[in-house]
Amino acid sequence: MPEKGEIQNEKFKILHFASCILNLVMRIDILSLFPKMFESPFSESIIKRAIDRGLVSIFVHNIRNFTHDKHHTVDDYPYGGGSGMVLKPAPLFEAVESIKGEIGDTAPVILLTPQGRLFCHQVAQELSSQPNLVLICGHYEGVDERVREHLVTDEISIGEYVLTGGELAAMVVVDAVVRLLPGVLSSEQASQEDSYAQGFLEYPQYTRPQVYREWEVPPILLSGNHQEVARWRREQAIQRTLERRPDLLGKAVLSEEERKLVDRIKAKRDRA
Ligand code: ADE
Repeated sequence: MPEKGEIQNEKFKILHFASCILNLVMRIDILSLFPKMFESPFSESIIKRAIDRGLVSIFVHNIRNFTHDKHHTVDDYPYGGGSGMVLKPAPLFEAVESIKGEIGDTAPVILLTPQGRLFCHQVAQELSSQPNLVLICGHYEGVDERVREHLVTDEISIGEYVLTGGELAAMVVVDAVVRLLPGVLSSEQASQEDSYAQGFLEYPQYTRPQVYREWEVPPILLSGNHQEVARWRREQAIQRTLERRPDLLGKAVLSEEERKLVDRIKAKRDRA
């Protein structure tokens, strides 16, 4: 009788083998001036497990390794003057060309920059269907415009604020993309995912103890009535979405009953 761990290992091996055959193993290459920043986020939790199971390969490249001068210069003053430094084109072109030598010419090359299109669940889904991604972490005042024009195929911003560099943005993108890859999340986790994709925020969750500092878990969750629990959760999700992100509800597919519920909540809110 095999031990549980052995069964799991067998399962992972089969999964990895099937993934390779079906070309499901995603490869992500990241170009950064600070590769060490990626060590911790990629060696913990779900991303680590996905790497260990062979569902994704992540390579972090130091842009400085693609320079040829003694000082490994990656940036220079902007033509025309002005403050700050600009990332030189040559190391970035050479790095991407070297990666493309291994993975082929068709991978999206994405620059992380506050000037990019806004990252969201749909963009994560779109990227998760690619076999390869190349992510470039911008720095300083920006990158030489020729990188944008002739190397990069997409530009992504993770929000309307400016970070010190693209590394944290790349980590966010990798995290959101990798969790969508087949086999990375359990089916339970994946169905929670669906809720957001369907245009709702999550319903409230509770765990033991039943009463904590006099705050009780809603009795319906202890009733054992699965149908009623499901209904309550759906109502809570709708209510929460209406309160916090009414814009999301535009995408949601609602039953007749749920539509009425939305109208009731709205009417109640308007009266208050
Ligand atoms: N680099 C700096 N700020 C950024 C942002 N908001 N998104 C992506 N990359 C960035």
